[in-house]
Amino acid sequence: MAKIPSNVIDSIREQSNIVDVIGQYVQLKKSGKNYLGLCPFHNEKTPSFSVAEDKQIFHCFGCGKGGNVFRFIEEIEHIPFSEAVLKVADLEQIPIDNALRQINHETGESSSSPAIQLHEKAVQFYHHILVNTEVGQGALDYLHQRGVTEDTIEEFQIGFAPPQRTFLERIFRNESLPAESFLESGLFIEKDDHSLIDRFYQRIMFPIRNSQGKTIAFSGRWFEMDSEDQEDQPKYLNSPETNLFNKREVLFNLDKAKSTIRKEGTIILFEGFMDVIAAWQVGVQNGVASMGTSLTEQQIQQIERLSQKLLFCYDGDNAGQNATFRGIELLREHSRLKLSAMRLPEKLDPDEYIRKYGGDAFVQVLNHQQLTPFLFTMDYLATQFHLENEQEKLAYLEQILKELNYVDSVLEQDSYLTKIAMQFDVQREALVQQFQVFKREQRRKLVQAKNKNSPNGIVPLMPLKQKKTQLQKAEEILLYRMTTDTSYRVKFKQQEGVFPEEQYQELFVLLDTYLDVEESFDYAKFLDFLQEEALKELMIAIGSANHSAEGSDQEFHDLMKQLKIYTYQQKIHQKQHELQQASQVGDGELQVTLAMEIVNLTRRLKNID
Ligand code: GTP
Ligand code: MN
Repeated sequence: MAKIPSNVIDSIREQSNIVDVIGQYVQLKKSGKNYLGLCPFHNEKTPSFSVAEDKQIFHCFGCGKGGNVFRFIEEIEHIPFSEAVLKVADLEQIPIDNALRQINHETGESSSSPAIQLHEKAVQFYHHILVNTEVGQGALDYLHQRGVTEDTIEEFQIGFAPPQRTFLERIFRNESLPAESFLESGLFIEKDDHSLIDRFYQRIMFPIRNSQGKTIAFSGRWFEMDSEDQEDQPKYLNSPETNLFNKREVLFNLDKAKSTIRKEGTIILFEGFMDVIAAWQVGVQNGVASMGTSLTEQQIQQIERLSQKLLFCYDGDNAGQNATFRGIELLREHSRLKLSAMRLPEKLDPDEYIRKYGGDAFVQVLNHQQLTPFLFTMDYLATQFHLENEQEKLAYLEQILKELNYVDSVLEQDSYLTKIAMQFDVQREALVQQFQVFKREQRRKLVQAKNKNSPNGIVPLMPLKQKKTQLQKAEEILLYRMTTDTSYRVKFKQQEGVFPEEQYQELFVLLDTYLDVEESFDYAKFLDFLQEEALKELMIAIGSANHSAEGSDQEFHDLMKQLKIYTYQQKIHQKQHELQQASQVGDGELQVTLAMEIVNLTRRLKNID
């Protein structure tokens, strides 16, 4: 990728605010001078991810990741530095030279790989066939009859793949792209004679976009055109997995839904694309769907970055309710999302519900009939037992008492116990007792599981980090002060100070160089200036530690004293070592010289004030 001039990089960094940028990925809460949130780079339940607005840096005290705004984007989007710079400009709507963008696009990989170009073109052609041609008329009528409006067809760029299997192939035949990119795109199938035919035909085409809004795959719904010759085709056909398209990562519509999800703090998970689209059309614009599979770890992580709450809005039929139950079981173990679930009546799916009762009714139901995971589970499990049979009823009650363990709030637990007692006509006291038994069992299991994870039974709360020595603390405070207080740097140099430890000395030399040319110190800029990873980390640690607001002459003096003491101790240590060697080889003269030096050094050590 082409290099971006450093003045452009500087200007983008200066115009952006790290809090805004990170705020689009992580929920941040103001805490004192800084912002705190859950670290997006490791799994945690209590926030240790901190963003300092004044220094324009972030740092996680849990996993140690940190840096400036560009580093954050590099890490979270898995993109190289120059792309991260452009991305920040985009996010912050900082105008940048189009020529520059062009250079980066032409040489950049992800933004315009041949496969993406093919997809973007295919979207246009399929869409054109659907809206403007005779061949697409049947499919267009069908969509209209299903209540999909023209605006929606436009918004989602829905299209139609005609029945001939050489449609795309002929369009792309003269395209000057590497030959292998056609096959790699997943849009074609290779025949025995190595010629290509279209993968999708006679299907209503839904473009699948990644979270940046680039089309990376399609899902096509089979469309029966001629009832005479019926083909045995799957209802939906998805693109195969390609370099671009990883089914386990993608959530349909996440790119469009992102901003509403952030605003409302809630994401709605649907089963089908048509449900997402139907909901969107009636103003519910925070809906996504997985690719017909249950949620994966990667998808959960993406969702957690945007949202605190997840609402399951699966189909009202048995399959949908089973999937909701499994989803609740999965997520309460593997995420911190607050869950709720819908049960649509008459086994309807959301799209059918909207068609039958209208958008307003759907919005009402969404707002007012959400079930807590426990209430959903209680109803769901009731359908799995014959409750009129006394034995099955007891088995059911046992199971829902176990489920009650997952309810965090004691108040909620209490009200559910009352509800169960009344609904099933049992003694509340007996329920409570049984519940206590399950609770103890659960706790025992938890402890056992924990012990298994760490052989000595100790569970470290954070990754173990080396404790800083007194000397390191002194060195860090000195460096920190130099970033805010010129007098520290001036005096340090006047006294010909040296940091005893190499890394700190190196950092000092670089800081000194930086401050010679820059008028003032800027953390985010300095981090770009530092090339070496270890030094960056060290600088972030220094910037993120809690230091008192201002230094003083006394503090400077005390810190220097610590450095000097250490330096003398080191020297004495070294001489003692040499002395030992001299006595081993019997070099009397050297022994005397060294002994004198040690006495001298020791005296000077004592006289340091
Ligand atoms: P309509 O019948 O058009 O209303 O579709 P729907 O949105 O109601 O979809 P349905 O509930 O039948 O399926 C939900 C999701 O499961 C779809 O969006 C697809 O992702 C997936 N799916 C359904 N049928 C198939 C199939 O035959 N093959 C594959 N691969 N996925 C399917
Ligand atoms: Mn449907």
